[in-house]
Amino acid sequence: MTLTQLPADAAERQLRPAAATDARDEVPTLGYPNYWYPAAPSNAVGKQPLAIKLLGENIVLFRSNGRVYALEDRCAHRGTPLSIGKVRFPGTITCAYHGWTFDATGQCVAALTEGPHSALPGKACIGSYPVEERANIVWVFIGDIEPPPVETDIPEDLFTDEDLVFPVVSTWRANWRLAIENVADPSHAPYMHRTALRFLFVKYRAYSRIQATDNERGDGFFINPGPVELERAGTEFPGVGRYPERIWWRRMSFPLKRTMNNGSQSELRLPGCLRTNNVYWFFLQWSVPVDAATSRQFIWVLRPQAAHGLKAVWWQAYWHLFYRFLMDQFIDQDRVVVEAQETNGAFALPEKLSVNDTGVIRWRRLAARARGSRVRPDGVE
Ligand code: FES
Ligand SMILES: [Fe+2]
Repeated sequence: MTLTQLPADAAERQLRPAAATDARDEVPTLGYPNYWYPAAPSNAVGKQPLAIKLLGENIVLFRSNGRVYALEDRCAHRGTPLSIGKVRFPGTITCAYHGWTFDATGQCVAALTEGPHSALPGKACIGSYPVEERANIVWVFIGDIEPPPVETDIPEDLFTDEDLVFPVVSTWRANWRLAIENVADPSHAPYMHRTALRFLFVKYRAYSRIQATDNERGDGFFINPGPVELERAGTEFPGVGRYPERIWWRRMSFPLKRTMNNGSQSELRLPGCLRTNNVYWFFLQWSVPVDAATSRQFIWVLRPQAAHGLKAVWWQAYWHLFYRFLMDQFIDQDRVVVEAQETNGAFALPEKLSVNDTGVIRWRRLAARARGSRVRPDGVE
């Protein structure tokens, strides 16, 4: 029986009580303000304006004379989205409706339908956002403090001359908090990702005790599988039966075994970026809040020490002809579950955490360390 089929009072009882102690509520629905966020791949932003949504805010990105600009996507006149307008004069965008034109700071600098002597310029404005381009990504700062240098928030791994970087962007119909808690939780991997094609021939870990420790920067924590029990087919689970099934090819012990079980090390940082070192590959996943029910995953797959020469040619081909598809299928396994949680209203329902949820618990506690947070780490405002 679904919640909607229950009588009204029973349905209410199913919802979790609004307890002041529920740490889920510490993490804002629309994300942490006062950080730089990946907004779009650089090559997606041209002279043609691009509408995006970040942390619930409608933003228009456009490029003029090589520079990228970010403005509120709402004309000050009568609310037409500027993203359906046009870059007509250098460094400005012109609304599609009556031709009001806004500069990089959001000031109206011309009202084309009022003529060149209109008194309007200087008397109307819209919001503007700090914007930078680094590592082939357009970064936008959302917040109300003086932004730190953009490099402060970009994972250092992206400033690489030695590694090949393959970006993947995936939009999920789920709030960013569900998406980020998915990556804060490595314990789902040996069960849910057991069927991922990229692990097909890997003797995977069967179960483990997740461990986490604070990072030195004070804005996150390291998380890893901890003591690992390698897959042994047919382990008896008392009173239930045997798991996992005996699959002959998994008994082959490929070198990848090392990477998937003992060698991996992950770090989760505010405002929502996971770095994972899997020895042969390095992954970054940044869960970016779009609106209450949508998030965008910026994922970078790095092949270390492969940016030059024949190695680069080989790994480019390997990625485009083969590994990209394996990654897509792997990422999709997460997407399907997280979107199903969203549909189920998981954040509004009771939950029961266990020992392997240490990453999820730590992630929620990081709220107190978020930039500009008024809540001290002891939970007192
Ligand atoms: S609504 Fe934009 S110019 Fe009128
Ligand atoms: Fe996953």
